[in-house]
Amino acid sequence: MSIIKTAVFPVGGLGTRFLPATKAMPKEMLPIVDTPLIQFVVEEARACGIERLVFVTGRQKHAIENHFDHMYELEANLEAKSKTEYVHLVRQHLGEPGEILFTRQMRPAGLGHAVWCARHVVQDAPFAVLLADDFIDAEPGCLAQMIAAFEANPGNYLAAMQVEADKVDRYGIAEPADDQEPESKSVRIKGLVEKPKPGDSPSRLAVIGRYVLMPEVMKRLSTLDPGAGGEIQLTDAIAAEIPHCPTYAYHFDGQRFDCGSKLGFVQATAHMSAKRGLV
Ligand code: UTP
Repeated sequence: MSIIKTAVFPVGGLGTRFLPATKAMPKEMLPIVDTPLIQFVVEEARACGIERLVFVTGRQKHAIENHFDHMYELEANLEAKSKTEYVHLVRQHLGEPGEILFTRQMRPAGLGHAVWCARHVVQDAPFAVLLADDFIDAEPGCLAQMIAAFEANPGNYLAAMQVEADKVDRYGIAEPADDQEPESKSVRIKGLVEKPKPGDSPSRLAVIGRYVLMPEVMKRLSTLDPGAGGEIQLTDAIAAEIPHCPTYAYHFDGQRFDCGSKLGFVQATAHMSAKRGLV
C-alpha cells in the first residue's frame, strides 16, 4: 500500500460563484447527478489506501460532517421499508470511525492557509491534497496515478493540464525546466506563478486540484506572507521549495471538469449523466 497516509481536503472556501445555492450549503456538497463532489474525492483518496482524511472546514459546512456520519432515523426508515439498496447508498461512503478528522480554518485566508491548518495531523510526512471542485473522471484515479509517480521518483507533484492561452489567469501556471525526460508524464518544473496575466505567463501548463507534497511544503506555509489576492497561496509555498526539492507537473490520464464554475459543473453533470445512461 501507498506510503501516503494522509489526505487534506480544503473545504473552507465561500463558494461565491455558486451563490445563492452556497449561502447555507457547502459548495463541496453540490451533487454530480446524485453524489456530492466531496464524496468523489474521498473515494479517490481511499482507493489509494489513504487512512487519515482531514477536512479543513469553515462556517456553514456542517452538511459535510453529517454526510460522513450515520443518519439513524433515515436508515431505520429505509430499513423498515426494505429499501436495501438505499440503505447501502447512505452507508457505503462512511469509512471507519476515526478515519475522518475535521479542523476549522476560521476565516477563508486562501488555499495555502487551509492546507496549513491541517499541519498537526499531517506532521512530518508526505501528504496529498485534493480539491473537490476539480472533478476528474479517471481510472485509475488521478491521485493514484500521481502517487505511483511519486513512489517511483519522490518530489512534489502537482496535477497539471494544458489550458487555453486566455485562461491562464485562472490558474497556478508551471514553468517547465529546460531538461526533460522525453515522453514522461512528469514534467520537471523550475517555476510556478499564481494567476499570471496572459501576456506574462511562462506556459499554458495549469495546476489543478490534486497534489502530492513533501512535508517541507507544510513548513514553508508557516513562514509565507500573503500573496495574490491577499491570500496565503499553496503555489507560493511549492514554488519556494523548487530549488530544494524536485517538483513535477503531472500530466494525468482522465477528463477534468472545473466544478468551481457553473459551466464546468453543468458539463460534468452532462458527462456523468451520459456515462450512467440517464440521457
Ligand atoms: P476556490 O477558490 O475554487 O473556492 O478554492 P471558493 O473560494 O470556495 O470559491 P469561489 O471562488 O468563492 O466561488 C478551491 C478549494 O479550496 C478551498 C475551497 O473550499 C475549494 O474547495 N478553500 C479556498 C479553502 O478551504 N479555504 C480558502 O481560504 C480558500
